[in-house]
Amino acid sequence: MFLEELRRYYQNHDTHQTAELSILEEVLPTYFPDKPVHPAIQALSYGETPLPVGVTLLEWAGLKRWESFLDLGCGCGALVLLAASQCQRAAGVDLSPAAIQFAKAAGLALGVGNADFAEQDLLEAELGAFDVLYCCSTAVSQWLADQLGARLGSCRAGTRVVTVTHPLRAGGIRTIEQRSLRFSWHNDRNVKTWDFYLHQL
Ligand SMILES: C[S@@+](CC[C@H](N)C(=O)[O-])C[C@H]1O[C@@H](n2cnc3c(N)ncnc32)[C@H](O)[C@@H]1O
Repeated sequence: MFLEELRRYYQNHDTHQTAELSILEEVLPTYFPDKPVHPAIQALSYGETPLPVGVTLLEWAGLKRWESFLDLGCGCGALVLLAASQCQRAAGVDLSPAAIQFAKAAGLALGVGNADFAEQDLLEAELGAFDVLYCCSTAVSQWLADQLGARLGSCRAGTRVVTVTHPLRAGGIRTIEQRSLRFSWHNDRNVKTWDFYLHQL
């Protein structure tokens, strides 16, 4: 009886996400204050752009039917599949094998034929073929935004890039607009206001 109650309680709570986020964002910086967590490790904390926010962002970035979209750090891929329904080709890269596996299975299950997913470091992804890039991992550090900005040389003029919290600062990239949106990365827990930056090359 209690076993069933216990099972149901845990099923209704995202314990993996709770613990993973806390370890990355609270435990590591608190218990190892002299050894700062490298921003590349901080960027591995997980969360998802809610689909209504995704709809707003794709419209804001002006994604067209004939264009292509790349999510740098795509997680389980929902935003890529959403973009695929609105443009010619969408892709996502992520370091998490499980997330990429999930994204590929979701694409197949939902009959989306124009989305690709790859297990890859976002700082090694080929960017030149895409019209709109999205990277929300910049939320954790200006370092990641700067690393990404330094890699945009291969992109065509007119490419748009959306980042969160930290804007791109590299030469040749204009910040067109900043927009604040209120939401939660974690199923409505911890709702906050997040700043998005739209850039154009
Ligand atoms: C906050 S989640 C965002 C997921 C998805 N883009 C969305 O908005 O719903 C950030 C993702 O970036 C991935 N990530 C962080 N650093 C990365 C890197 N260097 N290369 C590839 N993926 C990375 C993490 O594994 C995580 O899945």
